Parts: sequence; structure tokens; C-alpha cells
Amino acid sequence: MNISGLHALVLAAGKGTRMPSPRPKVLQTLLGETMLALVQRVLSQVQEVERVWTLIGHEASMVQSELDRLQCRIGCSCPQRAPSYHLGEDTIVQTQQLGTGHALQCAMPSLVEHGARRVLIVNGDVPLLGAHAVQRLLAANADMAFISLHLHDPASYGRVVRDAAGNVKAIVEARDYNPATHGFDPHEINTGLYVLSIKAAQQLLPKLSNQNHSKEYYITDLVSLAVEQGLTVQALAYDADDDALLGVNSPAELVAAEARLRTGIVAHLLDTGVIVHAPEGVRVSPFAHIEPGAELFGPCEVYGASAIAFGATIESHCVLRDARIGAGTRVRSFCHIEDAVIAQHCQVGPYARLRPGAIMDEDAHMGNFVEMKKSRLGRGSKANHLTYIGDADIGPGVNIGAGTITCNYDGVNKHRTVIGANSFIGSNTALVAPVTLGERTLIGAGSVITKDVPAGSLAVARSRQVNVEKK
Ligand code: UD1
Ligand code: CA
Repeated sequence: MNISGLHALVLAAGKGTRMPSPRPKVLQTLLGETMLALVQRVLSQVQEVERVWTLIGHEASMVQSELDRLQCRIGCSCPQRAPSYHLGEDTIVQTQQLGTGHALQCAMPSLVEHGARRVLIVNGDVPLLGAHAVQRLLAANADMAFISLHLHDPASYGRVVRDAAGNVKAIVEARDYNPATHGFDPHEINTGLYVLSIKAAQQLLPKLSNQNHSKEYYITDLVSLAVEQGLTVQALAYDADDDALLGVNSPAELVAAEARLRTGIVAHLLDTGVIVHAPEGVRVSPFAHIEPGAELFGPCEVYGASAIAFGATIESHCVLRDARIGAGTRVRSFCHIEDAVIAQHCQVGPYARLRPGAIMDEDAHMGNFVEMKKSRLGRGSKANHLTYIGDADIGPGVNIGAGTITCNYDGVNKHRTVIGANSFIGSNTALVAPVTLGERTLIGAGSVITKDVPAGSLAVARSRQVNVEKK
């Protein structure tokens, strides 16, 4: 068990006034993942962190649902840490957003109660943060430490003020910065990544005031307070990979960060042996896993925890989300695949849609304008054209003719269709569920099947053709 006494606190209660949206800022996405997910993922990679708290407030229930979702994605994929991972439960509500210092004040009772001795504080809007920067900060030996950056344009970031000897004196927010009192602008900024001892926090937080331009309690004022109290403060000037540590406050900053993340992921895929054609249009989530020897053709989008195996091909204009694609499977252009599992050596598309719960067994084929949800298409089975398969279990070796529809919904409830192995469903058949077709059944084209069909039978359910002499 981890007993470092180091807890992390993610500040995610703010609204993000510079990013107008129905969603709070930390839920804005890069490559389909929220900023919050990216920050939480990094913290999950830092072994010393015993517990992660998230401060929520603005649209708290939306942020809460994202944390619940992440609990599964990050907590469960990280079994060695699972006992201390309660992302969805370890939330602290900041009812009124009175500033980042007030945010820490709100979190203190939980931190103290649960035995924290140090707290790592991370702004929730730093989506490109890497574990390396966190590790470096944690190695600091001071009552308080934070990471700073030298920027050509310090923009609206808090400025780091040092004395003549180079020791940190304060962080002064951009709006409060006055060269007359604070000296010339050093272009060294605060990244919003801090570590401090709980003792120092307890000593300094009551002294915070909101007598500043924004009328907020600034966490950054803890620096000058610490210096005044004779505590040790370290600013770690970070230069490697610098703009990764920048906060995202506006739509322009969001897409710039996303572009940077995208390029890095594509470069990594190429390095590890994934063949990426037209890479400039390829968008892959940092949560996705693509094996060497898989092949992607841009433009295409692979989101969520998708997994693509060796030798699988994803052609252009496909959108995958939480999809598993088996080895050697070919997904042709314009397919949408979400929360679906496709085994090896299948053929999908062009223009196929696999919705949540769709499963294709080995060697199955699914062609153009076929939609499938909550259904299994058995080994070697084929549905090649214009078909809807919903709530169905289709055995191996089945051929589904063009225009076949499983009528799964009676207006109130959904019902299942079962099709036995090696059956042949003629074109333009409606299978009115609940209905079961045994193995080796043959259904005449144009049938409306409302009753079960025994194994080995032929069923035809349509009116007979009548030919009469023309008058
Ligand atoms: C903050 C720093 C600034 C630094 C910059 C780095 C302060 C006062 N300033 O400025 O020195 O250069 O980050 O990116 O901290 N939040 C809450 N509750 C609140 C207020 C904010 O949880 O009451 C959260 C926000 O959701 C956000 C984070 O804290 O994730 C930072 O807040 P934000 O308003 O973006 O601070 P900046 O103005 O960017
Ligand atoms: Ca910010």
C-alpha cells in the first residue's frame, strides 16, 4: 500500500469564462478526451500519489459524471492502485468559486482528515501536462514548490518575481502586475502546478486576502506569504517541452493544444511501427492502443480506449470510438464503429455502422449500409448490403440477404431475434422479434417472419404471385 502521505488535488470547479460553452472548461475535449481525463491519466501514472481529490463546483454534476466514467477507465486499468482510486467519490464541492486559494481552503478538511502530509495541486486546465514534470516537482525539497516557465509572451499568466539574488519572492497575477512596484517583467510565469506541505498550507491559508484586482483568493499569494513566514519556496524553472505546461483558457488555446497532442501521438505511432498514411488527418486518442503493423489511412478518427491489432486496416473517413478491431481485419472507408468488438480477419464497410454492443466473430463480413447494435454476427457470417440487425444472435455461416430487417421494437419493448448456424435469409425479409430460426433454415425472399422456424426448414411468408392474362 502507498503511504507516501502525498495527495493530489485537481482544481476543476471554475467555469472558464473565456471559453463560452454549456460545459465547464475542464470538460472541453482534445481528441475526444476531456482536459480532466488527460490530467487524471497523468496523475494515475505517478506512483507516489496516494489519493487524488477533485474540486468541483460549476456544473458539478457534469464533472462528477465524467469522474465516474474515469473511475472505470483509469482506476480499473490501474489495478495495483485500485484500492486508493475513488476518482468518482473523492470529490470536494466548492459551492462558490472565490478563487484558486479559496479552492485549496475548501479542500483542506478532506486532506487533513485523510492523513495527507503533502499536497500536489494541479490546475484542471493543463491538458498536456506530463508525468515527468510532476516527478520533477515532487523531487523538490521545500515547504512549497511550483513549476515556472520562461515565455516570450507571458500573456495573462501569473508572473514570478525574484529578488536580486534570484530567490523567489512572489507570484503576481498579470492583472495585478505593476512594473513600478514589481520591477521589470521577467517573463517567467507560474504554470499552476504546486506542491506544498499540509503544515505550510495550514499556516498560510488563513492569511489569504482577496484585496486584489479580481477580488479573488489567489493560491499564488501563498508564495509571498511563505517567504514572509520564513518558509522555503522553490520555483523550478522548466524548459523542456515547455508549452505542454500551459493552461488552456480559450478556444484558440484548446485547438492549439489539441494540434500539438495529435502530432505527438501520430509521431509516436509511426515510431512504434504503425503505418499511418496521410498522417495530417489522423486523430487518435491518447487512450487508444494501436499495435505495430496496423495501418491507418487519413483522414480518420480513433477515439476512446479503441484497440486496433496487428495487420488491421482502417481506411479513410472512419470514426471509431471504444472499438476493438482484430488482427487482419479490414475496415473500409466511411464506417462508424462505437463500443463494438470486431474479431480477426473480418471485412467491414464501406459505409457500415456498428453501434454499442455489436460483435463480429472471426471472418464475418458486413457491407455497405448495414447497421448493427447489441447483436452478434457469427463466425464467417455475412450481411453485405442494406440491413438492420438489432438485438440479434446470428450463428456462424449465416447469409443475411440484402434488405433484411430485424424488427426488434414493438413500440414499447425491444425483443431478440435468434438465427441458427448456416441459415440463409432471403433478401427483403422482415424478422419480427421475438423470433427464433433454427439451424440451416432457409427464408424465402420478401418474407415477413413472425413465427419461429424449426431447424432445417424452408419458410416463405408472402402472398403467392398471380399471373393473369392482360386484358
Ligand atoms: C492561474 C494562476 C496563474 C497561472 C495560471 C497557469 C491563480 C490565481 N493564478 O491563473 O498564476 O499563471 O493559472 O495556467 O491561481 N478554479 C477552481 N475554483 C476557483 C477558481 C479556479 O477550481 O474558485 C480552477 C479552474 O477550474 C481551473 C484552475 O482552477 O482549472 C485555474 O483557474 P483559472 O481561472 O484558469 O486561473 P488562471 O487565471 O489561468
Ligand atoms: Ca487557466
